[in-house]
Amino acid sequence: MRYDPISKDFFIRNREKLRGMLKPGSVAIIHSNDIYPTNADGTMPFKQNGDLYHLTGVDQEETTLLLLPDAADPKEREILFVRETNEHIAIWEGAKLTKEQARAISGIERIEWTSTIESFLHRLVTQADHIYLSTNEHPRAANVVETRNDRFIKDCQARYPLHRYERLAPLMHRLRMIKDAEEIRMIQKACDITEAGFRRVLGFIKPGVGEWEIEAELLHEFVRRGSRGFAYTPIIGSGGSSCVLHYVENNKPCRDGEILLMDVAAEYAGWNSDLTRTVPVNGRFTQRQRQVYDAVLRVLRGANKLLRPGITPMDYHKEVLGMMEGELVGLGLFSAKEAKAQGPDKPLVKKYFMHGTSHHLGLDVHDVSPPHEAIAEGMVLTIEPGIYIREENLGIRLENDVLIGNERNIDLMANIPLEAEEIEELMNA
Ligand code: GLY
Ligand code: MN
Ligand code: MN
Repeated sequence: MRYDPISKDFFIRNREKLRGMLKPGSVAIIHSNDIYPTNADGTMPFKQNGDLYHLTGVDQEETTLLLLPDAADPKEREILFVRETNEHIAIWEGAKLTKEQARAISGIERIEWTSTIESFLHRLVTQADHIYLSTNEHPRAANVVETRNDRFIKDCQARYPLHRYERLAPLMHRLRMIKDAEEIRMIQKACDITEAGFRRVLGFIKPGVGEWEIEAELLHEFVRRGSRGFAYTPIIGSGGSSCVLHYVENNKPCRDGEILLMDVAAEYAGWNSDLTRTVPVNGRFTQRQRQVYDAVLRVLRGANKLLRPGITPMDYHKEVLGMMEGELVGLGLFSAKEAKAQGPDKPLVKKYFMHGTSHHLGLDVHDVSPPHEAIAEGMVLTIEPGIYIREENLGIRLENDVLIGNERNIDLMANIPLEAEEIEELMNA
């Protein structure tokens, strides 16, 4: 099998926790994502709805979960609807889940075919007062495409205008922000696969190598280890492109003396890792590159000490900006006097460090969480400071993933080379 099996108990636990958050007399209905079209008859690779996956483990289109904790018939308290296969689908797309397989993955006893959902819906929805439905409430979601959940919301509200509608998203954000041991196992595996890819390219990078060739090496290593590939579109930027935060063209040759920023990581079984390393193309940092590298590394380590239970994301980022200010003064980018004179928004610091320091990581790379929620044990977050000096074509970002532990943070990327000396040593081995 491509992936280690995921225990169905994980999905059972998640549904149990969600049930505990619903108001009495509720039904919750969550649909899978669509397979999104591209052009002509082309489609994007299927990406499951994160909430549905978290609650069922079913990674298949046209899937719906219905939870009705107070259902009159105990057999109707949770029902999973999956797409029924037929001869045509079997020939063109291959096997779909059988009812037994869907039951084994999710731990849900009652499995029905998606085509029969209408015959259940009216009878079950009218047993409830509150209907919880799924919307994408990620603060940076573009939401330009109508999802299967969106279509269902319109339809449901038209048919049952006098029910009380509730947002499932805040509950799922709360549920998903603390990682279960099973999820940590999967994220760790994604980090370990990423490590293998990074170590592979350290011996491959040299002047003249194309950014796209490095991308190919990484993908090869990820996929052969069971990953379906990149957790997000890889950023492999040499020279001035190291300062472009979302550079994804990866189409230039790397040149002698340049720096190379790689924000690339693997997924595993739906969970993600998120790594950034910045290395010298020729295997030796220049004095200036090293100076900036060490400044970023100190901020990464300082931030790791700050990212502890109880601190709010805003206070944390503010503290990191303060730390970064000291480093930028040290690098001669502005004076201590200019630093002191700038307002609380720190425009001088943000000229060189213009993004956030950390985000949650899980089934989504920028994982969901309640806004402004204080850091707590069991969360998994990235730490990713960077300094981008466009006038020097020099951008350095370092990014590790950490689990917030009771006594200290556990670095899930502790085995991935980070110190400048180690990187140089491996590149010249
Ligand atoms: N790779 C996306 C990020 O670092 O947030
Ligand atoms: Mn990243
Ligand atoms: Mn990140």
